[in-house]
Amino acid sequence: MQRRDFLKYSAALGAFSALPLWSRSAFAAERPALPIPDLLEADAQSRIRLTVQAGKTTFGKHTATSWGYNGNLLGPALKLQQGKQVNVEIRNQLSEETTVHWHGLEVPGSVDGGPQGVITPGKSRSVSFTPTQQAATCWFHPHQHGKTGYQVAMGLAGLVLIEDPHSQQLLLPKSWGVDDVPVIVQDKKFTAEGEIDYQLDMMSAAVGWFGDTLLTNGAIYPRHAAPRGWLRLRLLNGCNARSLNFAISDKRPLYVIASDGGLLAEPVAVTELPMMPGERFEVLVETRDGKPFDIVTLPVSQMGMSIAPFDKPHPVLSIQPLRVVASGMLPDKLVQVPALPSLEGLTQRTLKLSMDPMLDQMGMQALMDKYGAQAMGGMDHGAMMQHGGHGMNHGSMGAMEHSSHGLDLHHANRINGQAFAMDTPQFAAARGQHERWVISGEGDMMLHPFHIHGTQFRILSENGKKPAAHRSGWKDTVKVEGGVSEVLVRFEHDAPKESAYMAHCHLLEHEDTGMMLGFTV
Ligand code: C2O
Ligand code: CU
Ligand code: CU
Repeated sequence: MQRRDFLKYSAALGAFSALPLWSRSAFAAERPALPIPDLLEADAQSRIRLTVQAGKTTFGKHTATSWGYNGNLLGPALKLQQGKQVNVEIRNQLSEETTVHWHGLEVPGSVDGGPQGVITPGKSRSVSFTPTQQAATCWFHPHQHGKTGYQVAMGLAGLVLIEDPHSQQLLLPKSWGVDDVPVIVQDKKFTAEGEIDYQLDMMSAAVGWFGDTLLTNGAIYPRHAAPRGWLRLRLLNGCNARSLNFAISDKRPLYVIASDGGLLAEPVAVTELPMMPGERFEVLVETRDGKPFDIVTLPVSQMGMSIAPFDKPHPVLSIQPLRVVASGMLPDKLVQVPALPSLEGLTQRTLKLSMDPMLDQMGMQALMDKYGAQAMGGMDHGAMMQHGGHGMNHGSMGAMEHSSHGLDLHHANRINGQAFAMDTPQFAAARGQHERWVISGEGDMMLHPFHIHGTQFRILSENGKKPAAHRSGWKDTVKVEGGVSEVLVRFEHDAPKESAYMAHCHLLEHEDTGMMLGFTV
């Protein structure tokens, strides 16, 4: 370890004290309460109404125009029952087109809300479907082609909870907003005028859009008063590009009970829980001792760097236990997760993720120019070499600037050599058949959270390794970071050409600049 790194590391540990941050300040009472999204269930006619609208939200010292579903920011949590049809009526009151995609839901392509499912301003769209998958925490968000990153950054995202008879029988914490708590974590940044500061440019197309303000259900480091016993957190990394690594300030364990597609076979105890954009995990945390603590996100190095304020443990949510005792429990066994079937004779498909080398190089250069010494100090040599960043002198910068004019940003990211083309699905998967998809990101060292529509899959290998225990259940997003990941997919619904399913990088700026393909079932 270099001396500089060592100093940094020790400083980070020092800041990561057992006590929650608020207890060391005079401002405990000023922490905002954690906003809890409304639970919205279908009415007697099986209807759910969603209005996509603009409003205003105050984020700390900024008051910004923001977008939400049925409100100013984010959206309600939709509660759906397995086997029960629901009819969602979506009204678009924005002045631009949008779509509403059901991330993680196994529903037909015609109602999946991918980039083809456009709702023009002032218009409505109704979609009906019946969830058949097991209980899970999924989410919904826009999928407007080329604008997904922008629309999510403006605030559009909500949870979808699927329930089934088995999940209802388990003695897990179930009291919404009390001991069953949604935790949607996103980063944002603001202009001098206080508006949400989004841009899809060379740098964000290369490395993603990152903010300097962390929001939990839209609030900055809020507090939640929880009963003693067990607390269930439904975590969503709703960031455009930022990976998070959840932990607890006093290092008590997080018991992971569910991944993207629902319950695991049994709880998995972890002290750190890395989560990529798009991923969900449900965790239980013990609050029996009545001591306050923080949920924090530990420094994560993406592109070999972590930039302030995320170079130290960063508070996400303060938990302040109450005197009352809750009744939820942590069961030993959760659900039956089937053994992996034989892989012999399966259709195999290769998806090679790539970035235009010029984008990779120029994006890294832009990052260097912006964060300069700070970023260089935190960046490891290997990552710099990977990005062609060895010639960090002004001569080479000038040359790169000069050639930037030739690069088409919206087609700069690719799968199998091609940028996304809406009218050209890349292949047809057979309905009801297992397939083995091999996703490779060997061309760069970027983190690509790779997501597939219409399925909950199983990870066979993740970036060249056997998946961790809590990543071995049902998933819809897999990590690809300079290596190869293999997943076992199966599609139970049709997706015809006009409403093909999508497979893409969930780093939204990669998705918006071409790292996506359509496929039919
Ligand atoms: Cu969460 Cu295709 O998206
Ligand atoms: Cu999706
Ligand atoms: Cu990517």
